[in-house]
Amino acid sequence: MEKLIFKRCPKCGNLFKVMGELKCEGVTCCGDHLETLTPNSTDASFEKHVPTFEIDNDKLIVTVNHVMDEDHFIEWICFQTKDKEQFVYLDKEAKAIFPYEKGILYAYCNKHGLWASEVE
Ligand SMILES: [Fe+2]
Repeated sequence: MEKLIFKRCPKCGNLFKVMGELKCEGVTCCGDHLETLTPNSTDASFEKHVPTFEIDNDKLIVTVNHVMDEDHFIEWICFQTKDKEQFVYLDKEAKAIFPYEKGILYAYCNKHGLWASEVE
């Protein structure tokens, strides 16, 4: 499965998800080219950012061992499967529940960017 492609404006921080494959690098925001986010590449604690999961019967219970402070938090968790991309936008808890199947989990920290792990 190809990983999703997320891009971010280096000036305003707007986040963009590319639909399908990236065909052009010329997309801009605030007059600048967007940067492509590479999961797990930020110099920050892997254990505090990478999404982990438990399988409970037909449910995938996803957590990120991260603080949910006002200025530093996990914004969303996404679960990509062969035919779906499911986003859960978080509030007080870095947790989401999806129907279990194989796929790729993503978590986005407002300070430390994009993190991913695989569900086998
Ligand atoms: Fe963080």
